[in-house]
Amino acid sequence: MKFIRKMADQSPIEDTVFKVAKAAKEDIKKHGFENVIDATIGTLYDEDRNLVAFNTVYDYFKNLDKKTIATYADSFVGNTSYHDAVQTWVFKNVALKLNSKVIATSGGTGAISLSLTNLMDSNDTIIIPEIGWGSYKLMAQQFNLNVKTYSLFQEEQFDLKNFKEVCLAVLQQQKKLFIIINDPCHNPTGFSFNQKTWQAIIEFINECSKIGPCILLNDIAYIDFSYQDTPNGYMQHFNQISDNVLIILAFSISKSLTSYGLRCGAAILLTQKKEHIDEVYTQFEKGARSLWSNINNAAMETFCYIANGGYQNYIKEKTNYVQLLKDRSSLFLQEAKQCQLQHYPYHEGFFITLIVDENHKKRIHQTFMDHHIYTVMVNKGIRIAICSLPMHKIKGLAYKLKQILDSIK
Ligand SMILES: Cc1ncc(COP(=O)(O)O)c(C=O)c1O
Repeated sequence: MKFIRKMADQSPIEDTVFKVAKAAKEDIKKHGFENVIDATIGTLYDEDRNLVAFNTVYDYFKNLDKKTIATYADSFVGNTSYHDAVQTWVFKNVALKLNSKVIATSGGTGAISLSLTNLMDSNDTIIIPEIGWGSYKLMAQQFNLNVKTYSLFQEEQFDLKNFKEVCLAVLQQQKKLFIIINDPCHNPTGFSFNQKTWQAIIEFINECSKIGPCILLNDIAYIDFSYQDTPNGYMQHFNQISDNVLIILAFSISKSLTSYGLRCGAAILLTQKKEHIDEVYTQFEKGARSLWSNINNAAMETFCYIANGGYQNYIKEKTNYVQLLKDRSSLFLQEAKQCQLQHYPYHEGFFITLIVDENHKKRIHQTFMDHHIYTVMVNKGIRIAICSLPMHKIKGLAYKLKQILDSIK
């Protein structure tokens, strides 16, 4: 404790992905690609083992003028053209009646951490999904925040009852709520809420907001890989929020444009009252200035191009990969059903998660590896990254996993 701050949690980052991914690579070297299944990689790969990098995005990006790449952004909150493009993109076909403001962030990660650091005090509690993206917990730890989790499932449906109970307990104690919802395409289950669930959530948060301010952070990192025609349709319910509710959409071009390394995203703020949004925006601007100063200009420029002139070609290209995800997931789900391999409800997205008893999880995970199948342990489950597995590797996988599971019992 000589150099680091007093409140720091000194435990190392729990490495659930990179160690296993490395072991998979070594196994591939030893036993050959065809004999190993590496279901760890959480980015989109094509059927020929290549990381997908959209032509529509990179043909434009690579031809940008060097001064466009070299320059600072217009301001600490990002370029105005980028704000407009993000608004149009995210709220396409949604008649939004709220005040809204966009700030460019360092990916979706930046939008979430900016929100946590600027809106919550040390020792406050935030509410996150029980099975969810690991970084939420890490961020809370880094910013001295406590975490309460809500269970996601009541059989095949969202466990609204537990969600309400957890929120009410926290509200009673701190008279303020900060809730994270990773919808649509929840990571790592691939679950998505229906409109009725969203409506019920907004109605409930409005009730809560009579007791104290409520912040709902909707992490939409995977929205552009939804299988729905209008995956943002639920956002119409945001119009119903009360004055004491703030909605933040954490948007990211990492998945949307297959540009994980460009580190570009946005926090979109929504409120009923203009004075509330201005107050939050000022804090976010100072936060951005003190954390990353400004966001990659070339990434913002590329997004603006894709959102405008390049949109039709982008959609054509992306549609092929959405179809690929659909094909991969339906093959896995179909076989899982046939052999009764249990998994959490999956609707769409990059991952499918097996239901696994917490007490046996490590042993199961290791036994999969002993059979040259590499997966990622998540809370209460084991994640299969169908986003990077070619079809021929998915064929028969559910049967293999089920056979191994049965042999362990
Ligand atoms: C659920 C979820 N939210 C947000 C992100 C943020 O990604 P980025 O910071 O690259 O935009 C990720 C990335 O894996 C994610 O899985």
